[in-house]
Amino acid sequence: MKFLPLVFTFLCSICGHSIAATSSIAYPSIPGVDSDECSFGGGDSILVPPRREVYDEGRIFDISHRYVPEMPVWDSTEGLGHFLWLQKSMKNGSRANDSAMKLGAHTGTHVDAPSHFYDNYFDAGFDVDSLDLALLNGLTLLVDVPRDKNITAEVMESLNIPKGVRRVLFRTLNTDRRLMFKKEFDTSYVGFKEDGAKWLVENTVIKLVGVDYLSAAAYDHSIPSHLVFLESREIILVEGLKLDDVPAGIYTLNCLPLRLVGSEASPIRCVLIR
Ligand SMILES: *[C@@H]1O[C@H](CO)[C@@H](O)[C@H](O)[C@H]1NC(C)=O
Ligand SMILES: *[C@@H]1O[C@H](CO)[C@@H](O)[C@H](O)[C@H]1NC(C)=O
Ligand SMILES: *[C@@H]1O[C@H](CO)[C@@H](O)[C@H](O)[C@H]1NC(C)=O
Repeated sequence: MKFLPLVFTFLCSICGHSIAATSSIAYPSIPGVDSDECSFGGGDSILVPPRREVYDEGRIFDISHRYVPEMPVWDSTEGLGHFLWLQKSMKNGSRANDSAMKLGAHTGTHVDAPSHFYDNYFDAGFDVDSLDLALLNGLTLLVDVPRDKNITAEVMESLNIPKGVRRVLFRTLNTDRRLMFKKEFDTSYVGFKEDGAKWLVENTVIKLVGVDYLSAAAYDHSIPSHLVFLESREIILVEGLKLDDVPAGIYTLNCLPLRLVGSEASPIRCVLIR
């Protein structure tokens, strides 16, 4: 690690000159080094942090939501509110800024572990640290659900998801209504009805279910649909995804929860890669 500042200084010093991709025995060739992409260091005079939804000209889509006080939380009209604060602040004379946060484990884009609705699984330790990263990372299909319906058995059947698909992200009316951007929790969101969850379990090999609001289950089927999904401990629910402006189709999904030992949920960062 001691080397890195040196390497970066070197890379930046060759920027602007048209030197071909660098490589040496110490490291493989670095794509982009011969272009003008030299943003290491941050010594520029105008300090504007980049905020992106899409990276690398459409190759990587960020499908996690930003954590902001105005984001919705389950069954609340107040939203997340004040959750992040500076414990030490440079403006108050500290050497560095140092923040702390307090966050429900089901806030924003998050993952549910089997212990969310099964107390015996909770006691046995089926927490988010036990989730299978092989399932959370791999080929995924993003589908559009008919906008006038919750996800029922009939809707599942009509989606014609090819046999063998193991990971599916369901984009619904929730995305069009921008519900994840609204502070007030909205019970009329679209989710799985119990028969839709059953159909998925019985007729497909889908083991990762992604949805675009805070719950995979429709509000009025909250408990039964979760029970159906989580009973086998084989299905992972990723909830509150940000699926705006991503074309439907096949991607590589990468999702990484925090290793919160003993927790039945975790915030999760997910990206789709073309
Ligand atoms: C440090 O915290 C202050 C608030 O006290 C904030 O205005 C400033 O931008 C922070 N600096 C950095 C480097 O994050
Ligand atoms: C800075 O110090 C003042 C006075 O002790 C305190 O009221 C304020 O909350 C502090 N701010 C931060 C960001 O730590
Ligand atoms: C989905 O179900 C909820 C109840 O959980 C309901 O309020 C909503 O109107 C339904 N949405 C659609 C599009 O049928």
